[in-house]
Amino acid sequence: MARIPLIAGNWKMYLTVAEAVELGRAVAASSKGLKDREVMIAPSFTALAAVIEAVAGSPVKVAAQNVAWEKEGAYTGEISPVMLQDVGASMAILGHSERRHIFGEDNAMVNQRLLGALKFDLTPVLCVGETLEEREQGATFKVVEEQLSQGIKGVGSDRISRVVVAYEPVWAIGTGKTAGKEQAQEVHAFIRKVLAGLYEKKLADEIRILYGGSVKPENVDSLMAQPDIDGALVGGAALQSESFDRIIHYL
Ligand code: PGA
Repeated sequence: MARIPLIAGNWKMYLTVAEAVELGRAVAASSKGLKDREVMIAPSFTALAAVIEAVAGSPVKVAAQNVAWEKEGAYTGEISPVMLQDVGASMAILGHSERRHIFGEDNAMVNQRLLGALKFDLTPVLCVGETLEEREQGATFKVVEEQLSQGIKGVGSDRISRVVVAYEPVWAIGTGKTAGKEQAQEVHAFIRKVLAGLYEKKLADEIRILYGGSVKPENVDSLMAQPDIDGALVGGAALQSESFDRIIHYL
């Protein structure tokens, strides 16, 4: 089965509601008529409803930047999958390195979030990736395998192809340093191999693996040309409509 590429913008903690609506409209215009690729944007929680309204009628999918696992309850500061469904979000980013490294989310918590997303029909985008120190110690594959296998723990063969994986080397996020295309491809192929071992090759071949970390108009084409890179998770360059438009229209 051919994997449909996904170009995703992670807006992080940027933009007011009015700014987010404006950018959402621009992304919707950029995505008009696209048949061979999907586009996702992840505004802050406060802008979700307005952005969803702004892109209505376009193929753009709107994601949350995190999600809790329970329908409701005493979880101050969290947003439930049902609340996301309620505003019309269809996807959720999980385990982003900023959640892991600034807010201390561990693999077990990321796994709970992922299971919560699947339970309530949100498409999870599970981020994995090593720090510079881990790469220098030769621990890249070990870290990525742990984050991946623990993140998808409990997901059966019937649901695994709904999961999107994003490989984001921490040292490349927001630093302007992109993994080289071969360097990224090597880890993407490894992720697919791990998935094939946990499930079966046919299913592993259906799972989209995005690359994230300083994706820009200048490097998107060569990254997207790699056989196991099925999309991009873009931070900084997703905040300007011109650069994100170029990334959406990678060659
Ligand atoms: P960046 O962020 O493109 O600014 O490096 C990517 C991400 O954090 O998802």
